[in-house]
Amino acid sequence: MAVIIDGKALAKKIRSNLKVECDELKKKGITPKLAVIMVGDNPASKVYVRNKSRACNEVGIEYQEYLLDENTRQEDLLNLIKKLNQDETVNGILLQSPVPEHLNINQAFKAITYLKDVDGFTPSSVGKLCIGEDTFVSCTPLGVIKMFEEYNIDLNGKDVVILGRSNIVGRPLIQCCLQKNATVTVCHSRTKSLEEHTKRADVIISAIGQPKFVTADMVKDGVVIIDVGINRDENGKLVGDVDFKNVEKKASYITPVPGGVGPMTIAMLMNNVIKATKEQYNENSTF
Ligand code: GUN
Repeated sequence: MAVIIDGKALAKKIRSNLKVECDELKKKGITPKLAVIMVGDNPASKVYVRNKSRACNEVGIEYQEYLLDENTRQEDLLNLIKKLNQDETVNGILLQSPVPEHLNINQAFKAITYLKDVDGFTPSSVGKLCIGEDTFVSCTPLGVIKMFEEYNIDLNGKDVVILGRSNIVGRPLIQCCLQKNATVTVCHSRTKSLEEHTKRADVIISAIGQPKFVTADMVKDGVVIIDVGINRDENGKLVGDVDFKNVEKKASYITPVPGGVGPMTIAMLMNNVIKATKEQYNENSTF
């Protein structure tokens, strides 16, 4: 039976450590503030945004939400981002993805000033991550790495197979795992013989958004499983990408859904807001 990686408990511990850091900033007269922009009313995004606001409240970060109409024009979205870039009371800016199809989300991400890029989505953050410099790392990959660290799972020389190549999860994870000296393979919808990759993997990180996609016959004994998926099954129950019940029997470590990667993502957002605030007030910053 696998060790179940308790993302919920670890996230709680991280939030409580961040609260101490946030209180120290407040003693210096600095209140960290996160601005969240959501366009339209995607139901899943509403849940994520609510969880982000709760976490801010717990850590002591000020939270400001901008709910834009479904029909918002690109120009108006860019103008709001510009305004928040210039607002000295705002330390982090997050544009909740997805946005309605008529909008160009990459152009909007690019408009966020680097020092407030708490999602790590701007080309500056992505580029710095690729050359191994200290920067904002997007929250889910950072949360996954913190789980490895907490559970002493050493990636050095390990075969890590990432399922999914999204800009938010799969791609930044490549760099994060490389930095830990893993041998990294990325599989996606066009991959031939997927099982050949998954069967030899020491670690599988699945971020594809398909319920029960990773089954027990696809993995080897002792595999470490990180399940980034958040899906609904046929009964409307929240499930990951992994057939947890059966894969757990073969795995050495596995993350549950819910209670695994999800809470860690939000804790890492809080981490990045505190980091952003500190860098903005650090006169010697080389960030
Ligand atoms: N949508 C799903 N996950 C994320 C995330 O980490 N950040 C943002 N901005 N949007 C998301």
